[in-house]
Amino acid sequence: MAARALIAGNWKMNGTQATAKALAADLAARCNTVPMLPRIALCPPAALLGLVASTISGSPIALGAQDCHAQQKGAHTGDTSAWLLKDIGCSFVIVGHSERRADHGETDILVKSKAQAALDAGLMPIICVGETEAERDAGKAADVVRRQVAGSLPAGATAANVVIAYEPVWAIGTGRTPTPEDVRAMHAVARETYAVGRSDGADVAILYGGSVKGSNAKVLLALPGVDGALVGGASLDAADFWTIIDATPRR
Ligand code: PGA
Repeated sequence: MAARALIAGNWKMNGTQATAKALAADLAARCNTVPMLPRIALCPPAALLGLVASTISGSPIALGAQDCHAQQKGAHTGDTSAWLLKDIGCSFVIVGHSERRADHGETDILVKSKAQAALDAGLMPIICVGETEAERDAGKAADVVRRQVAGSLPAGATAANVVIAYEPVWAIGTGRTPTPEDVRAMHAVARETYAVGRSDGADVAILYGGSVKGSNAKVLLALPGVDGALVGGASLDAADFWTIIDATPRR
């Protein structure tokens, strides 16, 4: 593993104050029982960030948001700036998730500017890339990931301030995962692309995301070049998410 592994839970648009508090408190309590943990981040919906921040306070769990605006402030109704996310206790922000690329038409250029805003605000962006099923079937998976990594990385990206997440769109929420060989190969493509013009390619953390759960985490997280996981559905269940954390190779 290039970096200390990161297991990030992307709650997406799920939860209420009551369920968020219970889930975060359960995970925070479990942290006390294990000596060597990977880095853990919870990315709840924006409206629940403050509540989760106070619930995990004092635990090793970090807070992440699911998106940010590219600007620091201004007339952008409904958006949240990276600076405010930092101010309320976030360390991470997911940018360029395929659901935002699809639902909100986010382009690599926009994702790059959001990732830059995250860096400027002192947040670590988790930059998501990944091909659709049609792109994979057409033999274009590697090209797509190359283009997205090259197009979405901000200028000042280093292994110390960004995380990349490879998430094949067809594996998200479907229960399907690529073969271990495909995951390894795609992570290598993402890493090679990151490394163009940079000397710390071996150190950048590249997470796998897409139907990671307790039952497949051990295999996926042991693959060379896989530095952790971005977990959707399974992160909504404390026991399942904890199985993934537990399956992470310790260093
Ligand atoms: P999933 O989602 O684990 O539910 O497939 C992963 C993601 O979208 O980050």
